[in-house]
Amino acid sequence: MKTIVILTGAGISAESGVKTFRGSNGLWNNYRIEEVASPIAWERDPELVLEFYNQRRKQLFEVSPNTAHHALAKLEKKFDTEIITQNVDDLHERAGSKNILHLHGELKKARSTIDPSLVYELKDWPLNIGDQCEKGSQLRPHIVWFGEAVPAIMDAIQIVKKADIFIVIGTSMVVYPAAGLINYVSNEAKKYLIDPNAEEVSGIKNLTVIRKNAGEGVPKLVEELLEMGEL
Ligand code: OAD
Repeated sequence: MKTIVILTGAGISAESGVKTFRGSNGLWNNYRIEEVASPIAWERDPELVLEFYNQRRKQLFEVSPNTAHHALAKLEKKFDTEIITQNVDDLHERAGSKNILHLHGELKKARSTIDPSLVYELKDWPLNIGDQCEKGSQLRPHIVWFGEAVPAIMDAIQIVKKADIFIVIGTSMVVYPAAGLINYVSNEAKKYLIDPNAEEVSGIKNLTVIRKNAGEGVPKLVEELLEMGEL
């Protein structure tokens, strides 16, 4: 079986009603990143940080996977399929995909501030000051903030190296180390980039750029790949 590796960003969830981060109307337009998504912000104003992620989490309970998430789940019928997502939503999971690596954490999880191995699934959206782990420390969002290491990156690199086909969907490719993953894909692998605003890309072999919304571009590509089957 051939291996398909997919790297997704906020753009794949845009048509579900989740705001992307950058560009006009992006999430960061309403916030200064360093005020809500950094260890310094957490130290300075944990209530504001919790409120920011509570709003994101509340919204996540109200949205659903779109046609792009559902289409990717179908790839598992014919391919070893691995999704590496920068998204903190759970829309790939809810669409039925199985192998999902969250590079930047997960909105529906919280973790201990003294023992990072203590991670908890949140059943409802609010996480409040006073919510504690079993060792008695405040819980924080299970999110990789700016200035923090990305613990899953080594696993992601190993996955990307196995790709026979590599698909990038809806990411501005400006946040590292995620944006560097494409450099680990073999030259022989077929590569696709689906983003309505994709810029010219140079220096990447076998790359097809599809300037379409994920909701349109992904189901079409998935259909083509399933028809091609074993290639
Ligand atoms: P960005 O907001 O930087 O980029 C979103 C991309 O999605 C842009 O390239 C858009 O052109 C594209 N896009 C918009 N609508 C689309 C649609 N309907 N279909 C397909 N693509 C569409 O989001 P990311 O690249 O995901 O990290 O941002 C990377 C990281 O920056 C995030 O994971 C987040 C943020 O800081 C953390 O919070 C740790």
